[in-house]
Amino acid sequence: MKENITIRSNDNGSCIMLRSAKMKDSEKLRRWKNKNSKYFFHKNIIKKAQQIKWMKDYFSDKNNFMFIIKYKNTEIGCIGFRKRSDGADIYNVILAHNGLARKGLMTEALNLLFGFIKIRFKNIGKVYVKVLKSNKVAVLWYKKNCFKKTGNFKDAHFMVWQGCTCAKRS
Ligand SMILES: CC(C)(COP(=O)(O)OP(=O)(O)OC[C@H]1O[C@@H](n2cnc3c(N)ncnc32)[C@H](O)[C@@H]1OP(=O)(O)O)[C@@H](O)C(=O)NCCC(=O)NCCS
Repeated sequence: MKENITIRSNDNGSCIMLRSAKMKDSEKLRRWKNKNSKYFFHKNIIKKAQQIKWMKDYFSDKNNFMFIIKYKNTEIGCIGFRKRSDGADIYNVILAHNGLARKGLMTEALNLLFGFIKIRFKNIGKVYVKVLKSNKVAVLWYKKNCFKKTGNFKDAHFMVWQGCTCAKRS
């Protein structure tokens, strides 16, 4: 059975927490992904049945971790990673509430995820992401969060986390 994980900060001032995605999140995840499709490699609109298939595969894959991000009890987005042989592949990072952009909330969510990865998989290798070159905001966001470009594809950067949490909430 898929593990049910909750990740909270030790910092009492933090209002961000992560909880494992569940089947009931299927439509929400589909809506968020479709709305943000221009930022991702998969451009086609995801249909309901495709999403359900994805969810089923997800629940049978112990190396796939998808979290719903909660801010003061409101679900504001999602963030995930897939454990690979060479490390952790960050994916499906979405802030789904426009009004909450640039408040450091996604950075907090990312740092919670880093904390979980480091504790759970001590020798994980690298933490990385493949991000579209056209997604300038995301590239800036990863840079600010200590990811460095280490590889180059035709349409994407390969960025590796340098192992620090240099981004601070403003
Ligand atoms: C990328 C994303 C997760 C950032 O979320 P956020 O909560 O606004 O980001 P944070 O508040 O944690 O970090 C803010 C930093 O991100 C970068 N950033 C975020 N929005 C920006 C914008 N509109 N213009 C320029 N830089 C921006 C900057 O470095 C900013 O720091 P600054 O405000 O000090 O300049 C969000 O914009 C998003 O969900 N984008 C659509 C989906 C996506 O692209 N996902 C990544 C796919 S690989």
